[in-house]
Amino acid sequence: MRVSVIGLGYVGLVTAACLAEWGHRVTGVEAKPERLAKLRRGQLPFHEPGLDDLVRRLRPTGRLRFASADKPAYAVRSADVVITAVGTHDGNGGWQTATMLDCLTSIVPHMRSDAVLVCRSTLPPELIARLRGFVGALREKAGKPMIPVLLNPEFTREGAAVHDFMDPERIVFGIVHDPQETGVEIVKSLYDRASAPMLVQSAIDAAFAKLGANLFLATKISFANELAQLCEAYGANVQNVVAAMAYDGRIGGRFLSAGIGFGGSCLPNQVAMTARAAQAMNLPADLFDAVYQVNRRQRQIFVEKLERLVEGPLRGKRVGLLGLTFKPGTDDLRDAPSLAIAAALLAEGATVVAYDPMPTARALAVATLPGLIIADSAEEALTGADAAGLVTEWPEFTAFDWAHAARLMRTPVLVDGRNALDPEQLAGAGFRYDSFGRPQAGQVTAMPLEAVDNVVASPLFVLDPALDGAAASVDGMQPAPQERQPA
Ligand code: UGA
Repeated sequence: MRVSVIGLGYVGLVTAACLAEWGHRVTGVEAKPERLAKLRRGQLPFHEPGLDDLVRRLRPTGRLRFASADKPAYAVRSADVVITAVGTHDGNGGWQTATMLDCLTSIVPHMRSDAVLVCRSTLPPELIARLRGFVGALREKAGKPMIPVLLNPEFTREGAAVHDFMDPERIVFGIVHDPQETGVEIVKSLYDRASAPMLVQSAIDAAFAKLGANLFLATKISFANELAQLCEAYGANVQNVVAAMAYDGRIGGRFLSAGIGFGGSCLPNQVAMTARAAQAMNLPADLFDAVYQVNRRQRQIFVEKLERLVEGPLRGKRVGLLGLTFKPGTDDLRDAPSLAIAAALLAEGATVVAYDPMPTARALAVATLPGLIIADSAEEALTGADAAGLVTEWPEFTAFDWAHAARLMRTPVLVDGRNALDPEQLAGAGFRYDSFGRPQAGQVTAMPLEAVDNVVASPLFVLDPALDGAAASVDGMQPAPQERQPA
């Protein structure tokens, strides 16, 4: 099948390369001249494991070629399927639809009358409602018949996107316009190498299937972070708690790692945009608000933990930060917790020296954050440091020789923002070490007994006498009868 993919960012380039790998003849279409030039030289504009290999291998076969968005007729006129994968986030917690509308305006008039238009970008619900009319008007103006229009949301993670595309857990199609169901049949056959269930839904259901998945993942992470706070107060270890919870098939253990929270271009934006949209419609969004706030709070907690471990203000202290990208396996810095943490440390008067294994991330970080010092190795970032922070759990940091690190630092102090290291091992290496929701080495319980008494007597746990029986069987935290107060 002949496919044109418009927009060669993280989503589009992975889609283009993977479809070419499956044997389709793919034209990747890009508007940014520098990005296009790089791709034509066989260089990737960003880091994504396995993708460079695909691009390098497929270009000489002719199954993957690159074209400029300046020549839309050339780019899409022979395609059976045109997939749009242009950006729809404004990078500031809001939607932007101008790029998508411009892209549709330039390509839709040139599409064959038997071709299918597929939107893979995440779209705001308002645009989905307008999409059929918008495409219809463009076709009418061009004097051509309407074409099938579908959504095909992506569920790929940066750092594992090639794997997620080639071996998906589900493939979802949302019908914007496809009265004869010809479009959906064509697009299903694009994916005939995948063995995942294919779900055909209304466009708005498909859009919410994508949004709902990301909101739930974000909620899991903020839940784990809130739970970690409680664990920390009571001296429990959140990793052990989650490991036990994970045996319950209704819960599962993934996306429950506590730490400095989620970053990237997807989860933070989509939580913020959903909360805003709900607010604009006067719908309650308390949960999504809380998910967002908990996530922001984790970054602040990281800085407070550093302050506590250095036993004083951070002014004049040298802090080594390990990791800049929002997670390992990518060079993406979008809404990376590292940048917020580094900015907060700099605002407190600390000297911040950061290292990340990705050279592109190092270059972008220093350009983004004036005052940040970039080191060329983890050793360099740690040398002479009064404290260190592990921000991204890159394998080179988890496998680091921490006894050696302790000798490099002025004072061996480390806050582990990803719960990636072993507290006992770090203590053994001479570190004052803290992480999220895990007892520090040798710690038995963190909460003094009087504090536990206060919790039991606190109004939070006052029960409506009418509900006593039910509550007692639910949570086991019911106060003794003499402690109860009227609700
Ligand atoms: C996310 C979703 O996971 C993908 O399914 C989705 O397709 C994609 O957004 C998208 O909408 O395009 P991604 O942004 O690549 O993928 O990153 P995630 O793997 O979801 O990680 C997000 C952040 O959460 C990272 O900063 C990570 O460190 C953090 N995280 C993850 C935690 O703090 N705890 C966890 O337990 C898991």
